Amino acid sequence: ISLRRYNTFAVEASCHQFIDITEESQLAGLHEEGYFQRSFLVLGSGSNVLFTKNYEGLIIHMASKGIQHFIEGNYIFVTAKAGEVWNDFVWYCINHGFAGVENMALIPGTVGASPVQNIGAYGTELMDVFYSCQAFDTQTGTFTTFSKDDCQFTYRDSIFKTKHKGRFIITSVTYKLALHKKVNTSYGAINEELNNRGIDSPSIKDVAEVVSHIRVEKLPDPSTVGNAGSFFKNTIIPLAHFNTLKEQHPTIVSFPVDNERVKLAAGWLIEACGWKGKIDGQVAVWKNQALVITNLGEASGLEIYTISSKIMNDVYKKFGIELEREVNIL
Ligand code: FAD
Ligand code: EPU
Repeated sequence: ISLRRYNTFAVEASCHQFIDITEESQLAGLHEEGYFQRSFLVLGSGSNVLFTKNYEGLIIHMASKGIQHFIEGNYIFVTAKAGEVWNDFVWYCINHGFAGVENMALIPGTVGASPVQNIGAYGTELMDVFYSCQAFDTQTGTFTTFSKDDCQFTYRDSIFKTKHKGRFIITSVTYKLALHKKVNTSYGAINEELNNRGIDSPSIKDVAEVVSHIRVEKLPDPSTVGNAGSFFKNTIIPLAHFNTLKEQHPTIVSFPVDNERVKLAAGWLIEACGWKGKIDGQVAVWKNQALVITNLGEASGLEIYTISSKIMNDVYKKFGIELEREVNIL
C-alpha cells in the first residue's frame, strides 16, 4: 500500500504490509504469530520521518484512542493512548484547566511518539511533564512501564532513539500536570505576541493560542506543504568553541544550555549559507524558517535527503559545524 498519506512530507513510498493497531491486545497476537521477527516500523502520524525508498516490511500504525485523568492534590495524572493526536490531548488538558503542555500546542503527531524525541517547543519539553509510559516489548512479547529516568531524555532524544531503537512500541503515556501553575512565557516570541494582544496575565489558553499563532506564521502546514518541521537539530557546542565562532561571526544566534554549553540556532547557520527560501527541483527550504525543508509536490524522499546533505556540507564548510538530522531517515 502507498504511504503517501501516512507521512507529512507526502513523498511516495510503499510498504509490504500495513496494520492499524486500535487495541493493545493486537500486539500480543502479532508477537505470537512471529510478526516481530521480521522488519517492522511503528508509525504515528509520520510527521518526523522521511522515506527515501519503499519500506520492505510491516508498518504498525498506532490508532488506539482514549484519554483518562485522575486528580491527586494539586497534581493531575493524565493517561492517553498512543494513537491520540497530540494537539487534541493538549486541548483536552487546557479545557480541563490542567497546566503544563500549553507551550507545546499544535506540535503535529501522536501521543505515542511524544517521548521518542522528547518533543519540545516554546520553552517546554516533554520531559517537564512526562510521568511514565507503557510499552510493548517486541522481543519478549510483554508490556513494560518506563519511568522518566528510564527514558534518558535529553534535547530531542530518548532511549527509544538510542539503546532501544526499534524494540518497544509505546502504547500509552502518562503525564503529570498541575492545577495551579505559573505560565511559562520565557520564550521571547510569546511575550511579544502577548503584548501585541494586550494580555498582562495570560491563562494557559492564552499561551496555547499565542503559540499556535506563532507556529502558523512560521511553519508550513503539512496539509498543504509537505514537511516534517525542523529537519535538523540545533547544535550544542562547548562554550569555548562558541566564543571563537562568535568572534568570526558576531551576529550568530545561540541559546545558553548550562554553564558550559551553548545551543546554536541551526536555522541561522543555514540562512547564513544562503539556503533560506532556496528552490532546487521539487524541494524548497522554507522561506520563513531555514530549518524546514519542504516538498513542492512531487519530490522524492531521496531528493529531499540529497538537499539535506548539501545543506550539511555548506554549513560545515562555512562554520565547521556538523549538523545532525532530527527527522528519522528510512
Ligand atoms: P512519526 O513520525 O510517525 O514517528 C516518529 C518516530 O517515532 C519514528 O522513528 C517512529 O518509529 C517512532 N514512533 C512513533 N510512534 C511510536 C510509538 N507509539 N512507539 C514507539 N515508537 C514510535 N517536533 C518537536 O519536538 N517540536 C516542534 O515544535 C515540532 N514542530 C513540528 C512542526 C511541523 C510542521 C512538523 C511536520 C513536525 C514538527 N515536529 C516538531 C516533529 C513532530 O511533530 C514530532 O516528532 C512528533 O512527535 C512526531 O509524531 P508522529 O506521531 O508523527 O511520529
Ligand atoms: N533563525 C534564523 N533564521 C531562520 C530560522 C531561525 O536566523 O531561518 C534564528 C532566529 O534568530 C530565531 C532563532 O533562530 O529567533 C530561533 O528560531 P525559532 O524560534 O524558529 O526556533 P528554532 O530554534 O529554529 C526550535 C525547534 C522547533 C520549535 C521551536 C520553538 C529544534 C530543532 N527546533 O526551532 O521544533 O518549534 O524551536 O521552540 O529544536 C521541530 O523540532 O520540528 C521544531 C519545529
